[in-house]
Amino acid sequence: MIHMNNAKRYTVTAALPYANGPLHIGHLAGAYLPADIFVRFLRLKGKDVVFICGSDEHGAPITIRAKQEGVSPQEIVDRYHEQMKRSFSKLHISFDIFHRTSAELHHEMAQDFFRDLYEKGVFEEKKTEQYYDEEYQQFLADRYIKGECPHCHNADAYGDQCEKCGNTLNALDLIKPKSVLSGKAPVKKETVHWYLPLNKDEEWLKLWIQQGEYKGKHHHDPKTWKKNVMGQVGSWLSDGLQARAITRDLEWGVDVPAEIPGSANKKLYVWLDAPIGYISATKQLALDGKIDSWEKYWQDEDAHLIHFIGKDNIVFHTIIFPSILNAKGNYNLPVNVPGNEFMNLEGDKISTSKNWAIWAHEIAEAYPDKIDEFRYVLCANIPETKDSEFTWSDFQTRVNSELVAAFGNFVNRIMVLNKKYFDGKVSSCKAYPAIEADALSVVAEAKEQMTKCIEQYKFREALDVLMTVARDGNKFLTNYEPWKRIKTDEEEAQTVLFYCTQIVANLGILTQPFMPQAAEKIFSMLNCKDLKWDDVGRLDLVQSGKELGETKLLFEKIDDDFVSAQLAKLEESKKNTSKSINYKPVKDEIQFEDFSKIDIRIGTITAAEKVEKADRLLALTVDLGFEVRTIVSGIAEHFSPEEVVGKQVQVLVNLAPRKMRGIESQGMILFAEDLEGKLHFVSPPAGMDNGSEVA
Ligand code: 2FM
Ligand code: ZN
Repeated sequence: MIHMNNAKRYTVTAALPYANGPLHIGHLAGAYLPADIFVRFLRLKGKDVVFICGSDEHGAPITIRAKQEGVSPQEIVDRYHEQMKRSFSKLHISFDIFHRTSAELHHEMAQDFFRDLYEKGVFEEKKTEQYYDEEYQQFLADRYIKGECPHCHNADAYGDQCEKCGNTLNALDLIKPKSVLSGKAPVKKETVHWYLPLNKDEEWLKLWIQQGEYKGKHHHDPKTWKKNVMGQVGSWLSDGLQARAITRDLEWGVDVPAEIPGSANKKLYVWLDAPIGYISATKQLALDGKIDSWEKYWQDEDAHLIHFIGKDNIVFHTIIFPSILNAKGNYNLPVNVPGNEFMNLEGDKISTSKNWAIWAHEIAEAYPDKIDEFRYVLCANIPETKDSEFTWSDFQTRVNSELVAAFGNFVNRIMVLNKKYFDGKVSSCKAYPAIEADALSVVAEAKEQMTKCIEQYKFREALDVLMTVARDGNKFLTNYEPWKRIKTDEEEAQTVLFYCTQIVANLGILTQPFMPQAAEKIFSMLNCKDLKWDDVGRLDLVQSGKELGETKLLFEKIDDDFVSAQLAKLEESKKNTSKSINYKPVKDEIQFEDFSKIDIRIGTITAAEKVEKADRLLALTVDLGFEVRTIVSGIAEHFSPEEVVGKQVQVLVNLAPRKMRGIESQGMILFAEDLEGKLHFVSPPAGMDNGSEVA
């Protein structure tokens, strides 16, 4: 049976974040921090591990963002790839590589996978109808289309997935579908795509996930998989799987290999290429000379593959990617997929579009000295079994009463006492069996307990054990009061302090996966290095007489002003971007010749009346200087006839005339629509002559 302990090496991945916007604390707590803690723990145990991540640079999230900003997708991914990379590094998330899926190496590898599976006859080719946006002339799949989820009736489900109930969807099943581009109801149009027949994989998937058996061998213990993950997977498997399209009609992404007939304008589905990104990143690591071979991390039976992800990624990592790896043949399947739920913020869902978030790059840039404090509080609130919550007041309480008052204070007292009584050196130790036994009891169980928690992906519980060691260390010190004892029995006082110093060293090791900066400070204060996880529990880690380093404060108190400032900032940012929610995407590029065909002139509305039996229409008389025209405008719900008479406006004068309710409309008046959908006049500066041109 494959067990954590007999793995020869580990391949740990953290979900490749879309390079379409900044990361927030929900991402950190959901995937990256737990993965980093896990990997640091493995490294401290001396294991052979690669820690893989990178940016996911394809798919609708990228192109939609690019359209919204009116820039190219490349510009978007370049910007956010760099930003995310920098943030991760400043937050001490210790990836061995942060690669990117726009890299050529990745395109090649993803195409190789496709080609190979195509040649093996794995895919089904199907002609189907798909939704299409006529205004934007684009097929709508995935995040390009939204509508009501047919399962849970969430009104904001995407074309490929409902983030509320986690179901994967087929865009055609959405209720009241709407194009994300034009906001309009789509039409249906025929197209041909390649499908992955997941229905054929049901049997072995069940055996693999639920029984832990793969290719006739024991693969993993299903009891080690998290309940939330198993629950989701179980319900998909019992509902039955369906074939899934793995290509798209898009302009941005990995091309379907050109030699395959019908590949023109077809791209790989982003969820086909992205997880292959884990493998191409590992290959890059080998090309960089950091590991001697990438294959042994993906194909060697003794290598354990573990995917850290958020709950919206579960189906892709437990069903779709494994079915691709299985079809490919010579790859390992994950031994575990520790997926977490979501983190909320101050009572609300974290939302990028509503700007309700604490941004990773802001923490990284603004508080380089508080990274450990953030890591600690995020870890204490990892949404391991259910959604969790970050609040600034909890941040303050945990930092002040746990990190500063218990942990930091203990370490500081030991340093101060050693400096005060023993000349800045580690005190000596004589035989006091009772004291030794008490000291041992502080650290004796910690290694085993924490190891068990971490191996079961229970990082919150592991952190509790760490804090218990700090608190028990404090109790041990208070109980033996070396500052009093020194007056009566110096040797005994020295011994107490010697053991306290050993407890601090133990704390340093245990802390390293969670708060690497604090651990480093501890090791520099104790003047020791290269301690390993297996050293925990020993009381001889720092020698008597050893010179101690400079005393450093591990953590700083968070005052009330800091908390109120953060809360005010959150409220403020919400106000600012509630406006940006409705930005419409920028339309497709046009040429100057297209623009120059438009003729806009200044005119004055001289008369206005309601159009009979049409609630929305006003018939306007407009003086354009060179002539007077009638224009029918759909503004009656915004303005009364009296309000518009006398206004100078901009008029599109070469629009083909149109009959509306029997009246011929000879042009169009331009209005500005604000983000709440209210209309405003776009009046020219005072004193303009009617008939003047706007260009
Ligand atoms: O949900 C997301 O942010 C995706 N970009 C995760 C991709 S994970 C992997 F498969 F690459
Ligand atoms: Zn749903």
